[in-house]
Amino acid sequence: MTPTRLDLCRPDDWHVHLRDGAALASVVADTARRFARAIVMPNLKPPVMTVAQAEDYRRRILACLPPDARFEPLMTLYLTEATPAEEIEQAKASGTVFAVKYYPAGATTNSQDGVRDLTRIYGVLEAMERHDLPLLLHGEVTDPGIDIFDRERVFIERHLMPLQARFPSLRMVLEHITTREAVDFVSEGPANLAATITAHHLLLNRNALFEGGVNPHHYCAPILKRETHRTALLQAVTSGNPRFFLGTDSAPHPRHAKESACGCAGVYTAHAAIELYAEAFEQAGKLDRLEAFASFHGPDFYRLPRNRERLLLQKQSWTVPSDFALGDATCVPMRAGKTVAWSLVEG
Ligand code: NCD
Ligand code: ZN
Repeated sequence: MTPTRLDLCRPDDWHVHLRDGAALASVVADTARRFARAIVMPNLKPPVMTVAQAEDYRRRILACLPPDARFEPLMTLYLTEATPAEEIEQAKASGTVFAVKYYPAGATTNSQDGVRDLTRIYGVLEAMERHDLPLLLHGEVTDPGIDIFDRERVFIERHLMPLQARFPSLRMVLEHITTREAVDFVSEGPANLAATITAHHLLLNRNALFEGGVNPHHYCAPILKRETHRTALLQAVTSGNPRFFLGTDSAPHPRHAKESACGCAGVYTAHAAIELYAEAFEQAGKLDRLEAFASFHGPDFYRLPRNRERLLLQKQSWTVPSDFALGDATCVPMRAGKTVAWSLVEG
């Protein structure tokens, strides 16, 4: 029988977009209410490229937290072709920066300053390997000749395999994986390769983009895939394999930027993040595997202590608001106006 309460070691989110300014103030409490720590993405405008910028951003995040919050932002640097290798040594010594993010230029929101030619960052990757600082990969090729649904698979063949061969000790996380091929590649890979998986890719397949008409609120990067891939992701997260862990990729955009002739990629899930994962694990009949995926595998890979606090969930459905304030705009969250089966027990 399915339990009606879940008592978990407090989870962490290993991939989230908190944005900046008024939008940051609108969203950060959702993440802080559920997670003890989060790996904060650096794709601001302009991007977070130096340790000094990451520390300023960290202070802005802390300043926006509700007074009773117990939440630690784990900062990342945005890798460009101009990132100096010395920045890596400083990042490792900082105690505030925990990883470096690779965006292929043009792959997703605010990736225009990302990397065009991987060979130009070999010096930085070598420094990361030497200082043992993890590389987080947005694993998609941007080659216009490659079908959008194949971008992740082709990235693995064209870029990830050569990277592994050249930097065998570099710790890498293939972020927000969406395909059976990525699941297989990580499952069969070495201990220094891991992957994060979002709740929306566990709960939705690509039909969700077109149900009842085009739905821009389900458009994200990497794009939703067909059902066989969703099933593979569910198998991965419930397998107990420690190299798969939670990363929401919650990515808020103003409603007008999503409902537009050229809508932005990103799904907002932070308002119901762990609750949505609980739904997915329940669907697979493996609720007992949620805690390790959400709370153990991530810190173990990042070599950080597991959290000591607990988080309680109960099987009680609630209705998600149709939108919420995002600075002076609004944002439409996942499941807007619909129900989520699990809720937090606040206390
Ligand atoms: C993210 C964003 O909006 O910043 N969008 C998304 O669709 N996931 C960027 C990213 O992680 O690709
Ligand atoms: Zn992201």
